[in-house]
Amino acid sequence: MGVLMYLFVLYFGIITQINHCFSNSMIMTCLPKKHGTLFIFGDSLFDNGNNNYINTTTDYQANYPPYGQTFFKYPSGRFSDGRMIPDIVAEYAGLPLLPPYLHPGHPEYVYGVNFASGGSGALSQTSQESVIDLNTQLSYLRKVKKLFREKLGHEKTEELMFKSVYLFSVGSNDYGTLVDPNSGVVLPVDHQQFVDNVIENLSNVIKEIYELGGRKFGLVNVGPIGCSPSIRILVRKYECLEEISAVAKLHNKKLTEMVQKLENQLKGFIYSVTDFYSALSQVLKYPSKYGFKEASRACCGSGPYRGEDSCGGKKGIKEYELCENVSEHVFFDSHHPTDKANQHFARLIWNGNGNVTWPYNLKQLFEI
Ligand SMILES: *[C@@H]1O[C@H](CO)[C@@H](O)[C@H](O)[C@H]1NC(C)=O
Ligand SMILES: *[C@@H]1O[C@H](CO)[C@@H](O)[C@H](O)[C@H]1NC(C)=O
Ligand SMILES: *[C@@H]1O[C@H](CO)[C@@H](O)[C@H](O)[C@H]1NC(C)=O
Ligand SMILES: *[C@@H]1O[C@H](CO)[C@@H](O)[C@H](O)[C@H]1NC(C)=O
Repeated sequence: MGVLMYLFVLYFGIITQINHCFSNSMIMTCLPKKHGTLFIFGDSLFDNGNNNYINTTTDYQANYPPYGQTFFKYPSGRFSDGRMIPDIVAEYAGLPLLPPYLHPGHPEYVYGVNFASGGSGALSQTSQESVIDLNTQLSYLRKVKKLFREKLGHEKTEELMFKSVYLFSVGSNDYGTLVDPNSGVVLPVDHQQFVDNVIENLSNVIKEIYELGGRKFGLVNVGPIGCSPSIRILVRKYECLEEISAVAKLHNKKLTEMVQKLENQLKGFIYSVTDFYSALSQVLKYPSKYGFKEASRACCGSGPYRGEDSCGGKKGIKEYELCENVSEHVFFDSHHPTDKANQHFARLIWNGNGNVTWPYNLKQLFEI
């Protein structure tokens, strides 16, 4: 029975592989079906070192110790002790680590590339002049496509754009600008209008990528930002700032509506949304269920909950504390998850069930 099942699966595996090969006339599609291509857009949750190469301040960089201490053993510019979510997703997809786009030299982009920039948002005024905004990230994709065309020719390039997955983490920094960094007061602007602007910009970028030939989009929604140690430190009794998490919720609702609208407008558009808000909320609420001991206090930083953004001592405050055992923590610094937490989120993005990632997960998106 087991063997028959195995043969059955093997047989259909081969058939689909062959179909995949013959359904298109080009050699490229005969590469193992596993060969996907992944393009990464967004903020520090995804940045794997682009900000090392821009004219910015250490406020927007993580290329100094103790960042990177556990996995890579050197500070690569990732905002974590180890890997970021896209590093782990790439591994699931059978891809090597993707290079940051701005890495000097001429890395291969055939498996994809990472355009994300810590501090960036969908609005160009978010961390303006200090980061690579989403529109500039899009302009980099155009350049990569041009490079593909020179190297691979028109047809293969279109095929590659079509098959690729475009993965986004956008919004947290836009909403972060609504919180007064001294008082923790949420600015009394029209929150729905603000969300609409963020979503419209993001939607425009997605449409542009569709025009470039992209079809498969992965989106990670905005987490409960009011619960990051950096925000809690501003709040009485260090509670979560529910008012700003509420704006994240508005964003997430609108994000779902946006992709549904695009699905109706754009032929062949397919997407995956991961409910990062719920995923992180669950971990914060039941840390031990996920193997953590400490969900409120960062591993690296200073002040209450180590919510002072001082990890590494390069941002004004020179003194900082570092926890003994990073795998007990959900947050590495005052904003960003640890490698261990990123592993959990990457798993949910890759093969989470329909409660957390829908209507497809990224694994399915790669296989379609
Ligand atoms: C880097 O940015 C600073 C401050 O914005 C500016 O004064 C300086 O000229 C910039 N350097 C380069 C090489 O662009
Ligand atoms: C994105 O938002 C900013 C600020 O609201 C605006 O200036 C910019 O033109 C927008 N870009 C796109 C492509 O929509
Ligand atoms: C670190 O914490 C993890 C998770 O709680 C635990 O499994 C591990 O044994 C700890 N390591 C040390 C050296 O205490
Ligand atoms: C989704 O969540 C609901 C309610 O918690 C649960 O009953 C259901 O089994 C879950 N579905 C999957 C596929 O896990």
